Parts: sequence; structure tokens; C-alpha cells
Amino acid sequence: MTTLTPTSNPAAGSPAGLPGAPSVPPGLPDPAALARLAGAFFSALPGTSPAAVQSPPLVNNPAPPGSPVAGPGGTGTGVPGAAIPQGHVPGANLLPAAPTHVLSLPNRAPSLAPTAAAQNGLPDTAVTVAPALESRFGGQALGVPHAAAPSPHASAAPAYYFLEGAGRAPHGGAAELREIATFGDPLALHLPRQGPGAQGYGQDRAGKEALPWAASSARVPFDVNAIRRDFPILQERVNGRQLVWFDNAATTHKPQSVIDRLAYFYAHENSNIHRAAHALAGRATDAYEAARSKVQRFIGAASPEEIVFVRGTTEAINLIAKTWGAKHVGEGDEIVVSHLEHHANIVPWQQLAAQTGARLRVIPVDDSGQVLLDEYRKLLNDRTRIVSVTQVSNALGTVVPVAEIVEMAHRAGACALVDGAQSVSHMRVDVQAIDADFFVFSGHKVFGPTGIGVVYGKRALLEDMPPWQGGGNMIADVTFERTVFQPPPNRFEAGTGNIADAVGLGAALDYVERVGIENIARYEHDLLEYATHLLQPIPGVRLVGTARDKASVLSFVLKGYETEEVGQALNEEGIAVRSGHHCAQPILRRFGLEATVRPSLAFYNTTEEVDRLISVVRRLSGRR
Ligand code: ALA
Repeated sequence: MTTLTPTSNPAAGSPAGLPGAPSVPPGLPDPAALARLAGAFFSALPGTSPAAVQSPPLVNNPAPPGSPVAGPGGTGTGVPGAAIPQGHVPGANLLPAAPTHVLSLPNRAPSLAPTAAAQNGLPDTAVTVAPALESRFGGQALGVPHAAAPSPHASAAPAYYFLEGAGRAPHGGAAELREIATFGDPLALHLPRQGPGAQGYGQDRAGKEALPWAASSARVPFDVNAIRRDFPILQERVNGRQLVWFDNAATTHKPQSVIDRLAYFYAHENSNIHRAAHALAGRATDAYEAARSKVQRFIGAASPEEIVFVRGTTEAINLIAKTWGAKHVGEGDEIVVSHLEHHANIVPWQQLAAQTGARLRVIPVDDSGQVLLDEYRKLLNDRTRIVSVTQVSNALGTVVPVAEIVEMAHRAGACALVDGAQSVSHMRVDVQAIDADFFVFSGHKVFGPTGIGVVYGKRALLEDMPPWQGGGNMIADVTFERTVFQPPPNRFEAGTGNIADAVGLGAALDYVERVGIENIARYEHDLLEYATHLLQPIPGVRLVGTARDKASVLSFVLKGYETEEVGQALNEEGIAVRSGHHCAQPILRRFGLEATVRPSLAFYNTTEEVDRLISVVRRLSGRR
């Protein structure tokens, strides 16, 4: 068996023949030959060209220092993408305690090789390492060009965003700026200051500075191409073209660090949690509770006990409606939502209203898609029990002034829930600053796995809420006569939860934090401006959602076309957008529509990808 032995610097790439390369036991083929074999194997896969995969560099750990897949200091932790959990983690006091309570993860070797000999006779190293290289080095190794052509300075640029990138001054020059967007004024190169059709969106740059989530003192280079290399799926080809993923409001893609973290969990930590006195139970419990603490920090909650893991935003709102709602909402009471809401923030409240005799009231929006605060004020009264609003509209992209809405709700004596499904990946969220009583979001929309989401609730509220599902994990003691429940958060986590994906969500939040959410917000804001300037003037295009404060989303319809036709035409060019009602029928109907085409941006998208979308829409526009 050939295994990959860590070198003195296991996070650094070590091409074969160089110091640090794995030694080859006698009788086995040399690593370079294996790399060629692996190249030939992968060239036979659909979508790869033989020339593109000739020589993936053989490394024993593809995580470079500073990448999210390496540990602090670039030395590798053995837990890809993870900070090293140390000591007694919050929440791990749940019974019974595992004997190996303090993790030994830092002491374990990186796991990039299988521990058993392959049955097919192929040496482990080539077979296991090459697929990982395929994605990380996809742009060059697979011959897939990145959306932006390499700049003359590309060789000097870090291979990964985190490698020496932060704080470095941009090299300057148009080509460089096209590749490495800075937060100085990258779009000045591309955007007319007063483009036709610019009215309504509020693109003035001074205005941008006033946007609280985009405001940052940071002026660091944002190397989008380096970031893209952390997302293997972006190298996929669809209909012969490199994938452009503009369906981020539906779900986001996962960096390699998240993918690796999930694999690591199942390879080394997998166990049920909170319940057994064995080593893996300790590891799994620690990993899960560490993820809870990461969520707590990410959204600014006061304690990890205020974080409940659920399947996603939909389940989160249902939990609140069915527990807090059932306890506090009665006949004649009022529940306030906005016209912008996703069905997940309408239907559970409607169900509650139907059960209790309460009334659902709706904050209207103006023609730009922004909520009307004066109308909202008129809706509030002493029967208002809860106000539940989205922070960013999934259909229009409107950024809603949630802090003001929460404050007004509190003044009326009501509780406030903020739906962060579309906001957490685009802007800094601080639940204590917003003063939300509840805040909910989904992991898969913030570069984490599907099937994991979060309810944040102020501790006093959670403690006052009855459980909604009964079973194991949520109890302190059970007899046939009565059950004593655990305190929050376990009270709301009955049964075996989605342990691995909670851990994966923690890795995703680590990744976002290392890029910097303010950096992300600013870059995306510039990209949205860029796209808006180009899309809005195309004849026949009607942009739906023109609020001054927007994030990520560019909903539109094109005269003469069904939205599905536009979606299909884009798909033929490898561009993924959602077309349809976006699970937000009331707000589309407010604009006289049943469906829109909805490109939605993330921080791994580029101006070149926007250009590709625009050229398809222009072509369609010229035909009918
Ligand atoms: N809520 C997701 C969307 O907006 C599914 O597409």
C-alpha cells in the first residue's frame, strides 16, 4: 500500500521529485507515471479534453498555506477548512459526556489517502489525489479558461485568495483591474457614470458608500479568480460552455473546504452526538457544537444556546409559528408580514391564523419594491403579536430596513422575526444590533450544505417556548407519567439531527469570514451595479425590483418571451438562472406578473459572466 505521508509542511504542494514528495517503495510505479495514468483516466471523462489533463501536478496535500483548506499558519490541521477546535466547547456539556472530550484532531494526519489498499491494483496515491487536483487546478489543468483572461501579472498573483492577498496593493492597470477587482473603483473602467436607463436603481457611487452592509474601511484586493478556484463546480461545462451560476438565490455552491470537511467528518468523526461514552461520539459532538458556536459568532448572537439547528429556513419559520406562535397568538390577534415574503414566511403564519382565528396583515411596497414604512406603522396596534419580514427579497433583491421594522414592532409590543435566507451570504448580519427576537437562515444559501439551517432566538424567548417535536436528544428525563425537557437549544432538536451538515455549515462560515463579508458585500454591490447598467437599457427588458438598496438579484421580463424561453436560451449558453415565480407569488403579482427571469449573483461571479448573460438577452431582444 502506498500512503501519503505528511511532509514537514503538509499544506504546501510538493511536486514529485522535490523535497517533501512521498517516497516510493520499491516495486511500485513512480509518482510521475501514476500522474500520467491518472491524467489519461480523467481525460476519458465527459467534458474533459485529453490535452487539458496531461500533467496535474502531484502534490501530497493540495491545500496551500492560507487557503481555507489549510489550517492556521498553513500547516494543515488534518481537518480541511476548519479552525482547530480547542478544549471544552460550548454546548458539549450535554449528557453523557464523552470520555475524550478534548479533541485530538490536530494530532491526526491529513486524510487524503485511503487507509486500505485499493482492490483494483491501482496505487492509492494517484487515484485519490488526482480527483482533488482536478477541481482545484481545474482552470489550468483541465484547460478550462477562467472567465477572465489571466492578466500579465497573473504569475505574481497568489494561487488562492488568502495567500498573501489581503492588504496587498493592486498592481494597477485595466487588465489587472478586470481580473482583480479592488474596492477603490473597479467599475469605473466598465461603467458609464450616467448610462441610459440608469434611473430608478440609485447607482450613484456616493450612495453606495451610505449602504451600511457594503460600508467597510477595507480596501483590500478581491481576487475573484482565486476565489473561483476554491469552488470546483464552477469548472463544470454545460452545453459545451463553462458554467455560469447565476442561481445563487436558489442555492449557492460549496468551496472545496466545505466538501472536504464533510468527507472528513464521515471518515473520522461520524457518530451520533450527546449520547455515548466513546471517542467518536466525543469528536462528533465537539464538531457539531463547534459549528453552533461558529453560527453564533457569525450572526452576532449572545450565546450558542440561542442557536437551534433545523433543516432550513422553511423549517425554522414553521418551528417558531408552531411553538412560539401556538403559545402567544390567539383569536383576534394580528401577524404582520410584508408583501415581499417568500411563501415560507407566509404559509406557516396563514396556518397559524387559520388555527387560532388570528389575522394576517401585509405591509405594502412601493413601485420599486421597497416596503412602505408609513403604511407599516399604520398596521401596528395592540393586537399585533409578531412581525415577520425578510431582510432581502428573494424575488426582487430589495434590502429591507429590518432594524427599523423591528424597532417599530417592539414599540407596539410585538415580537419580530427576520428571515435572513437571502441576506446572510451578502451582508454582515448582527442579530443583536438588529434586535431581532428571531432570525432564521439556511446553510445552503451561504455556501454550506443543504438540509441544515438555523433558528436564532433570544434566550428568554426560547426558554419560554414549548418543544415542537418530541423524542430523543431533547429530553432530560422520561417516565411514562411525564417528561422533563432539555433547555434550549436541545429542546428543539429532537432525534438525530443533520450532524455532518451542521459541521459543513461551520466550515462554510469559516470560509466566508476569511474572505470577509464586508469585502463580499462591496464586490457584489459593484457587480450588481455593473449588471443593472447593462441589462436595464436592452429594448424589451423590464427590470422588476428597482429599490435603491438591493442585493444580488436582477429580476426581469423580456417583451415577446415567456420567462422559460429566456431561461432555456441562457441554459443553452451554460448560464443558470431561475425563471418562474420564485416561491413568492404575491410580490410578483403586485407587479402584474406570474414569473420573472432571475439572475442572482454571488461573490464568485464576474463581470465577464455578466457580459455573457447580457449578450444572450441582447440577441433575444433583437429577434422579436
Ligand atoms: N428560495 C429559493 C429561491 O428563491 C428556492 O429560489
